Amino acid sequence: MKQSRPQVPVITVDGPSGSGKGTLCRLLARELGWNLLDSGALYRLVGIAARNHGVGIDNHAALEVLAGHLDVQFQPGADDAGDVRVVLEGEDVTGVVRSEEVGALASQVGAVAAVRAALLDRQRAFCVLPGLVADGRDMGTEVFPEAELKVFLTASPEERAARRFRQLIDKGDAVSLPRLVADIETRDRRDLERSVSPLRPSPEAVLIDTTGVSIADVFARLMSLARERGLA
Ligand code: DC
Repeated sequence: MKQSRPQVPVITVDGPSGSGKGTLCRLLARELGWNLLDSGALYRLVGIAARNHGVGIDNHAALEVLAGHLDVQFQPGADDAGDVRVVLEGEDVTGVVRSEEVGALASQVGAVAAVRAALLDRQRAFCVLPGLVADGRDMGTEVFPEAELKVFLTASPEERAARRFRQLIDKGDAVSLPRLVADIETRDRRDLERSVSPLRPSPEAVLIDTTGVSIADVFARLMSLARERGLA
């Protein structure tokens, strides 16, 4: 008798930078005991690889090759706190991968259709039992259109910039808040207006505005949605 493939449950969380996706996805994955896909990290790594190899943003053919052959390892951090070390082509890039500069590079390579196509299989490979929490811009629309629960998080640009500001200051990065607001606006515009897989909620997505709402409250809401759908 032919065995059917086990269905892997997926929760997608999409939204702009600073909407709280990263933190909430980590909490959700930990609570459910599921796998976590940080798709932004893949775009960020393509950006770093392009910079390291001197590949320009206009060289789509070379960017496609880099995206299709990303030599990356996600290794458990030394302190056992759930931190992950990111190693690209043998070099530890953990310290730079989440920087604003690399975020801007990621947004640029993310606008290239060939890069998005080259990363599709790698992203879908994260979809294994017992389940997947997928964090990104097009998780619900393009990468996992069959997901059981799709969430789209938003927050005002000012609040998103303030959250990023705190994150970067905590990491010891020197940043200016007005500069961060301007960078977030540029990145939003590029992610929203690109012709391929623009940032946009799937019609089935539950929209949650996190402006002025604590992470704990948004997390409780997400868990209650997951329970309603029999996922938790
Ligand atoms: O989520 P993040 O800040 O790490 O993402 C960095 C950039 O990568 C974002 O501005 C656009 C791009 N990106 C994308 O195009 N598609 C995704 N699924 C995730 C990120």
